[in-house]
Amino acid sequence: MRDGVGRRVFAARAPRRQAAPSNRRFELVAPAVRRLDAPAPAAQDRIENNSQESPPMPLPSRRAVLAGASLAALAACGQRQASANRHVNVYSARHYDSDRRIYALFTERTGIDVRVLPANGDQLIERLRQEGDQTEADLIVTVDGGNLWRLTEAGLLQATTSPALEAAVPSRFRDAQNRWWAFSKRIRIIAARRDAGAAIQSMDELAEARFRGQICARSSSNTYNLSMMAARIERLGRANALAWARGVRENFARPPQGGDIEQLRAIVAGTGSIAITNHYYLLRLQQSADSAERAVAAALAPIVPDQRGAGVHVNISGAGVSAHARRRDEAVQLLEFLVTPEAQRVVQELNLEFPIRPDTALLAPLAALGRFHEEQIPFDALGRRQSEAARVYEEAGWL
Ligand SMILES: [Fe+2]
Repeated sequence: MRDGVGRRVFAARAPRRQAAPSNRRFELVAPAVRRLDAPAPAAQDRIENNSQESPPMPLPSRRAVLAGASLAALAACGQRQASANRHVNVYSARHYDSDRRIYALFTERTGIDVRVLPANGDQLIERLRQEGDQTEADLIVTVDGGNLWRLTEAGLLQATTSPALEAAVPSRFRDAQNRWWAFSKRIRIIAARRDAGAAIQSMDELAEARFRGQICARSSSNTYNLSMMAARIERLGRANALAWARGVRENFARPPQGGDIEQLRAIVAGTGSIAITNHYYLLRLQQSADSAERAVAAALAPIVPDQRGAGVHVNISGAGVSAHARRRDEAVQLLEFLVTPEAQRVVQELNLEFPIRPDTALLAPLAALGRFHEEQIPFDALGRRQSEAARVYEEAGWL
């Protein structure tokens, strides 16, 4: 069986109420366990590949998982030995080092192993639909408010609440029926080449004729752009959104191509002077060990747009307990752990995302973007309006 990008995946179904799932399907994440057979990616790849758009991670070999499991056992403390069989299965569309670190910390704190099945957002939902009540998923983790909405629409999540969740997550960043809870957020910003000297404060201005030939943008089929457009339609209506998309398309420096990082590299290389990017791509360049990448970042001014208007476009990552979770208690524990101060620090340190807890101190790279005013729309609009967003882009010729 092969997935959407042609990689081999393992069969989805397991007999109902079968014992623990085969290790072959999951990546076991524990302090002593990393993908032992995985070579380190090249520095250039690491930035763009450490991204939600990445294809699913190759599943670890059986040898690696077993080797890792025995290492974990050797490293186990008494608490872990006492609960050696406890685990929780996570289906995740996030493939970040930050998440692996959080799961490892969770295992250290609780003795509960975390087994992760990676998939991208669409695959995740399709797989869960096919598995139905025979799924092995306990906790489901994904990027994008639109994906979270689709999970709820498909009945794949169950309501969960607890004092810890209620205290940590503002009401705006959780489902109205408590089926998902956000644990990190990102903003979509403008990057402008400093030497071009463009004065720009709003995404609206990207459609102005003064920027003809200046804008680099990625494909409209990308989730980040679809969600940005869905939010605009929700806020300003279809006619405004279509006129804006047409104006931006007329200002393109080149046809849409590549990811957010490619747009940043292109404008520094002289193809146009303005790009749209999620904030963390620019911060990753700033923080890179590669001096050439730091030079790209230094040439760019980050602009958090619409601070005098509607606020900057925000998107979230979130998690919810699977509708058919067999390990509900463990899933809730992990969900709560995602919004602890400890985990909220990790999403900043390792992934340069904004924490969801308002009481979390921002680390320097994030604080440098300043306090910002956020676009106020319900996150389910990112899902409800995604199809309409795609049609608007198509009609505008932004492919
Ligand atoms: Fe990303």
